Amino acid sequence: IREDYSEVSGYIAKYIKERIRQFKPTAERPFVLGLPTGSSPIGTYKALVELHKAGELSFEHVVTFNMDEYVGLPRDHPESYHSFMWKNLFMHVDIKPENVNILDGNAEDLDEECKRFEAEIARVGGIELFLGGIGPDGHIAFNEPGSSLTSRTRVKTLAYETIIANARFFDGDVSKVPKLALTVGVATVMDAREVCIIITGAHKSIALAKCIEDGVNHMWTVSAVQMHPKGLIVCDEDATLEL
Ligand code: GLP
Repeated sequence: IREDYSEVSGYIAKYIKERIRQFKPTAERPFVLGLPTGSSPIGTYKALVELHKAGELSFEHVVTFNMDEYVGLPRDHPESYHSFMWKNLFMHVDIKPENVNILDGNAEDLDEECKRFEAEIARVGGIELFLGGIGPDGHIAFNEPGSSLTSRTRVKTLAYETIIANARFFDGDVSKVPKLALTVGVATVMDAREVCIIITGAHKSIALAKCIEDGVNHMWTVSAVQMHPKGLIVCDEDATLEL
């Protein structure tokens, strides 16, 4: 538990830096990092960029996999997760474009695209550290309430609550929010050797309580982290309201 959003962001950025440093990645053995979008990781990404600018962190041998992407939104749409990642992180650091993996929500065959993504994760040896955020309903990536805890990367219909929550990024207009997304599964996240979840704000406090104080439950998919041998939740004081 850290005091506020900025403390949480700084803590996670330093944590990631430290893990990459300990791993000593090379071209043959890169550090594989899973990444989320949303407002939760923005502060972490800013702090990572600062560490990079200060010469303390390089992404030269880091391979990334993003959690999810909307279906049907052009890749260069300002709200695509592709645009988000380049704007908030990738364009400010020394990552190689070929090391960035983001699901293609415009692929002709979406199921095939999901299979390709899983195969690519396996090809690079699995994910070392998966960073995630959650929705107020406790979803991780786009694994909406009711998603199987053994789910893999697939096409998912967004819950109405998620569409409403994300309308703020689409001029507040619910009709502009894509209704489908490609998302890694709960099991794809839990396969990572380490999982780190950012939970900030009072609006996430019920989800945090469900995640750690109730049993593992597919209605609060982030609760699967309880089963992970190396799961870390970094939250702010506001998010602890219901604990
Ligand atoms: C979307 C993303 C999730 C993210 C969630 C919360 O649903 N698919 O990965 O965790 O939004 O977003 P925020 O961090 O803006 O609250």
